[in-house]
Amino acid sequence: MGTPLLARIETEDHETKDTPELLRWATDLYKDTPELLRWATDLYQDKLALSCSFGAEDIVLLDLLSQINPTPRVFTLDTGRLPPETYDLMAKIEKRYRLRIQVYYPDRDKVEEMVNKRGINLFRDSIENRNLCCHIRKVEPLHRALKGFSAWITGLRREQSFGRSDLQVVEQSSNGPVKINPLANWSHEEVWNYIRSRELPYNKLHDLGYPSIGCAPCTRPIESGEHIRDGRWWWEQSNKECGLHTLNVTGSTK
Ligand code: ADX
Ligand code: SF4
Repeated sequence: MGTPLLARIETEDHETKDTPELLRWATDLYKDTPELLRWATDLYQDKLALSCSFGAEDIVLLDLLSQINPTPRVFTLDTGRLPPETYDLMAKIEKRYRLRIQVYYPDRDKVEEMVNKRGINLFRDSIENRNLCCHIRKVEPLHRALKGFSAWITGLRREQSFGRSDLQVVEQSSNGPVKINPLANWSHEEVWNYIRSRELPYNKLHDLGYPSIGCAPCTRPIESGEHIRDGRWWWEQSNKECGLHTLNVTGSTK
């Protein structure tokens, strides 16, 4: 922990400032994840949402967040291809935290057109098809989900991949919602220590060798020695991202 994080951050009076004081202040906050979440909750109130895929990180965040706000706003993107274990966990979480998770689905017409033209498992055939499927089933619903929010929280961590290694704890785009990645510097072990210490529910697939879970046909368990994201889109050599986290300010993907 301790890497400087913010280029810019919105202050309580919604000014965007670049000052050394602010940097120091934010760096202090970010060392303490609950403090950071409290800051975000106080500042953004009901314009703050947790983007939840029900992975281990998101469970930690929901637990921390619900200690600050018992009714946090949480949304998920249901691609229509999630494993049953994820739905089971979603139901468990709603019960345990007494909340209703906002579910966003892909546009029906777009899914029908895509599948009828390119096949049910089109994503295996080319990178282009895979990107299209991720775009229709995940990215476009994310755009809709984020409408009306000033800030969103994700469970991204730097350690997860090379492409995420320079992840900022708070990312401010010029006209999109602020993105808050409170676990950016947490290790895999820290995440799991928290889950165990609080006896939190988690996706059953984690016990079957799936450290990272997405859509069922695009996620497999990993072998010993493999990287935690090697089970995602394993048939691809590179491009282990779906576009959710490469969103630019105008909402297209870069
Ligand atoms: S992905 O882009 O490769 O699918 P990953 O599974 O690592 O992302 O999850 C990183 C973070 O992205 C999660 O902690 C969560 O905040 C968000 N996220 C990923 N998938 C979803 C989803 N289906 N619904 C809502 N948020 C998601
Ligand atoms: Fe489609 Fe696979 Fe992307 Fe899910 S992860 S949206 S099934 S390509």
